Amino acid sequence: MPNAVITGTGHYLPPRIVLNKELEQSCDTSDEWIQERTGILQRHFIAPGQTTSELGLFAALEALEAAGKKPADLDYIIFATLSPDVLFPGCGCLLQSRLGVENIPALDIRNQCSGFLYGLQVANALIRSEAARTVLLVGAEVHSTGLDLSPNGREVSVLFGDGAGAVVLEAGPQGRGIIRVEVGADGRHARDLWCEGPGSAEHPERITAQMLLDGRQYPKMKGRLVFRHAVQTMKSSLLGVLDAAGVSVGDLALLIPHQANLRIIEMVTRMLDMPPERVATNIQLVGNTTAGSIPILLDQSRRAGRLNEGDWLAMTAFGSGFTWGSAVIKW
Ligand code: COA
Repeated sequence: MPNAVITGTGHYLPPRIVLNKELEQSCDTSDEWIQERTGILQRHFIAPGQTTSELGLFAALEALEAAGKKPADLDYIIFATLSPDVLFPGCGCLLQSRLGVENIPALDIRNQCSGFLYGLQVANALIRSEAARTVLLVGAEVHSTGLDLSPNGREVSVLFGDGAGAVVLEAGPQGRGIIRVEVGADGRHARDLWCEGPGSAEHPERITAQMLLDGRQYPKMKGRLVFRHAVQTMKSSLLGVLDAAGVSVGDLALLIPHQANLRIIEMVTRMLDMPPERVATNIQLVGNTTAGSIPILLDQSRRAGRLNEGDWLAMTAFGSGFTWGSAVIKW
């Protein structure tokens, strides 16, 4: 049975940088508050006209180049996002067309901050079952057009940024690549971090003038509750997958945690007794890019020379749903 090996990585961040200072003007917040509570200094926002599938395209092209592959070599596309260009079809189909390939399957994943890890599990299963040999997995978000940048939305809006990351996975030898991926969900917490509209649960239309006035098109979050669950769940999910793979925390050359809040990452790092220099972060410069978070940081880490062949790498994420996931990879 082949193993799924990541053979190329790429990312794209739109050029416009939004400093905390800029948010002070509309959000009734402060650079000091944002830095102290989240670790974030800046994030990237798209230029008008840019879309999630376009960000995904740029990341995908980089990943393909790194893998030495052409779009025509792909036989499956998986696209994780909570901010698709349009309600349907999914960004996977839009990206397939942008890449100029035809007929191969294009699957969208709607699992928010855990979307990349859900996608990794699917890609792994496809390759191991020999249903696909070369899979493109993209995580991308455009948050900036869906944030309440007034004081009402400040708790959520200061956290998020736009961006995309991508990986190419190929069939490879046993003992290398994705060793184990585990994901989970607890839908009882669906309303603790969610965005209601537009949604088919609304009558008579999916989005009404009243909903817009009430700000129900914007994400809402119980911040403290999410924080608590994120710390506990990322820790237990990661320990679970490490145990199943027979790998210890001490074996890890690098941990790539989802970038939601630097304080969450620091707490998880302490609880795992992990040396901070072996935990990758970029939230300071990109904020929370949800499905883009892990693949962007993976690409930056690889290009910075932080991963060598044979290294043990782990990833962990937690997000809306609640959903979560962790992976162990032999690089
Ligand atoms: N700027 C300034 N003040 C703000 C603010 C902002 N952007 N957002 C909230 N505040 C205020 C609150 O109104 C509150 O004021 P009060 O004490 O007068 O009532 C105060 O800051 C503290 O709010 P609190 O919610 O207790 O802050 P916190 O330390 O829990 O930090 C979050 C808030 C959102 C940063 C934190 O809860 C968090 O990161 N949660 C998890 C988020 C997350 O991971 N989401 C994505 C999951 S993938």
